[in-house]
Amino acid sequence: MVTIVSHPLVQHKLSLMRDERTGVKEFRELAGELSLLLAYEAMRDLELTSQRLSTPIEEGDFPMLSGKKLALVAILRAGLVMTDAIVGLVPAAKVGHIGLYRDPQTLKPVAYYNKLPADIAERRVFLTDPMLATGGSASAAIGFLKEAGAQSIKLMCILAAPEGTAVIEKDHPDVDIVVAAVDSQLNNHGYIVPGLGDAGDRIYGTK
Ligand code: PRP
Ligand code: URA
Repeated sequence: MVTIVSHPLVQHKLSLMRDERTGVKEFRELAGELSLLLAYEAMRDLELTSQRLSTPIEEGDFPMLSGKKLALVAILRAGLVMTDAIVGLVPAAKVGHIGLYRDPQTLKPVAYYNKLPADIAERRVFLTDPMLATGGSASAAIGFLKEAGAQSIKLMCILAAPEGTAVIEKDHPDVDIVVAAVDSQLNNHGYIVPGLGDAGDRIYGTK
């Protein structure tokens, strides 16, 4: 299932990220802010339990998070800006990293790093990457997570192409996607159109 977060704050911040005049500092800040808003949606089905406690006024039963613990996993590089923001919301989450880059010629993902929490099988996993273009990187990352035993995986992206969401729905129908927008298509170089350009380069100022 693909959930598009149509909230006005999300859409406004995404438009600012798309703007080619937005510089590195603002782009990075916007990516972090948008990630928090996406997490609000992606985590809306976290389990709650009732806990007895006293406010300064009286005792009562109040909701607290329960159920499986969480893992945030970033697809390097660009996914880092998302997990760095989201871990502030859920500080007990463990954080994993999957290093992948997309070969510019073949557009196929090349894996170079993989470090995941040892108990990933017992955790709900939120996989982050701002861009879901051909879907090759996210599909490979989900494959690594499943090989490591992960059973509950949600993919969080800022922007997707229809080609990318289709690949995830085909390769991993059990993985839900939460995204701010799905654009019209990919261009011949595998970039999302109209998109926002190269997310990693814009976050880290490498171009
Ligand atoms: C970008 C992006 C995704 C991938 C999406 O990373 O952050 O990981 O491309 O493309 P896909 O859906 O076609 O696989 P990139 O390969 O540019 O690496 P980087 O984050 O290290 O810059
Ligand atoms: N990766 C990006 O950073 N941007 C795109 O448009 C496609 C892949």
